[in-house]
Amino acid sequence: MIIGKPLLTTEQINDKVIELAEMISRDYIGKEVLAVGILKGAFMFFADLIRALRIPVVVDFIVATSYIKTSSTGEVKIHYDIKEDVAGKNVLLIEDIIDTGISLNYIRERILSKSPESLKVCALLDKRERRVVDIPLDYVGFQIPNDFVVGYGLDFENKYRNLPYIAVFKKKT
Ligand code: IMP
Ligand code: MG
Repeated sequence: MIIGKPLLTTEQINDKVIELAEMISRDYIGKEVLAVGILKGAFMFFADLIRALRIPVVVDFIVATSYIKTSSTGEVKIHYDIKEDVAGKNVLLIEDIIDTGISLNYIRERILSKSPESLKVCALLDKRERRVVDIPLDYVGFQIPNDFVVGYGLDFENKYRNLPYIAVFKKKT
């Protein structure tokens, strides 16, 4: 297993996080946001992003899985669900990466059925080429090619999440 050179450096990520937080803060001015991090992958992005927001934030999480090794199973499992009452809230879903879109679509439908005031999605990475379900993304950090990436929260078999940058993960041949 080899980790390639950074696809996105710590500095590029930090700059993008600030840019996204500025946009979100402007859009939600005068409102409170229920920020929902999709774990585990989004934990680092979530922590950095909400720290840079200039609006009142309530924090919650969803723990969901759809991936085994490097491919999506297409079946989404919820291991921990939002504990906050979603009805009437401005929900902002925060995700590390959108790949097929199956996980996010499932989570989105689940939240929409609980009558939020609004629901928006912020994803750091978008692998658009792989999309199976078309979901509206409100805030996107970077479009990336169809490579498996690790670091900054993203894993391969639960490893490499602690890398401070994002790199392409390759199996040794
Ligand atoms: P989707 O349901 O196919 O959109 O998968 C989304 C989830 O799969 C993300 O939340 C990630 O946790 C995981 N995932 C997708 N692509 C990658 C990748 O390149 N590296 C690490 N995890 C990934
Ligand atoms: Mg994830």
